[in-house]
Amino acid sequence: MMKVAIDGPAGAGKSTIARAAASRLGYVYIDTGAMYRAVALFAVRRGISTKNDVAGVIGVLPEISITIRHVDGVQRIFLGGEDVSEAIRMPEISVAASEVAVIPEVRQKLVQLQRQLSETADVIMDGRDIGTYVLPDAEVKIFLTADVTVRAERRYKELCEKGTETTLDEVLRDMQYRDANDSGRAFAPLRQAEDAVAVDTTLLTAEESIDHVIAVIRGACNVV
Ligand code: DC
Repeated sequence: MMKVAIDGPAGAGKSTIARAAASRLGYVYIDTGAMYRAVALFAVRRGISTKNDVAGVIGVLPEISITIRHVDGVQRIFLGGEDVSEAIRMPEISVAASEVAVIPEVRQKLVQLQRQLSETADVIMDGRDIGTYVLPDAEVKIFLTADVTVRAERRYKELCEKGTETTLDEVLRDMQYRDANDSGRAFAPLRQAEDAVAVDTTLLTAEESIDHVIAVIRGACNVV
């Protein structure tokens, strides 16, 4: 099975690029951020503070059942029997996801699922620690970056298109908070793997970024 790892901070273009590359190359796209978001959604719905109540989050972990299904190549994520693919995209869940992601017990549970999924098909998996921790033996590792203001603008536009009420300032603040959390945590933090190819998407359009990443994957995997 081929494994492609795409890591980087929020808004660098990971999901857009990974989804498009997977579709063109016939790989399965696995969005691991959605799993942290699902855990966060479960905790928030239970009224648990994801920032302050680590024991509370750990306490409900055995009750959390996450399933990933692909419908027409698109990943859907289920919490118990409920499709939460849209509910997990709310800005407060982005922040809460970054908070639960600091907890090693949460990571261990999700990493187990991620590794299992990578055994079932050729995958392009995106996240923060895929190249460094989840799939250290991935055939291709890509580290996507972009200037934080550009990343915030992209996410703001995305949220506006979905009708989510927010401001650019708020999105930028959340992004900086998440960057610090994701890079600063002790267990499997966001960082570039030594053998990863860095791609800065600040000045690239989505199409240019997709073409570039596909060229890197093709070059490394000898796929056409
Ligand atoms: O990629 P995303 O924005 O959907 O991820 C949401 C949060 O989940 C992110 O702020 C950090 C966490 N996360 C992580 O710690 N490790 C991953 N592999 C993926 C996401």
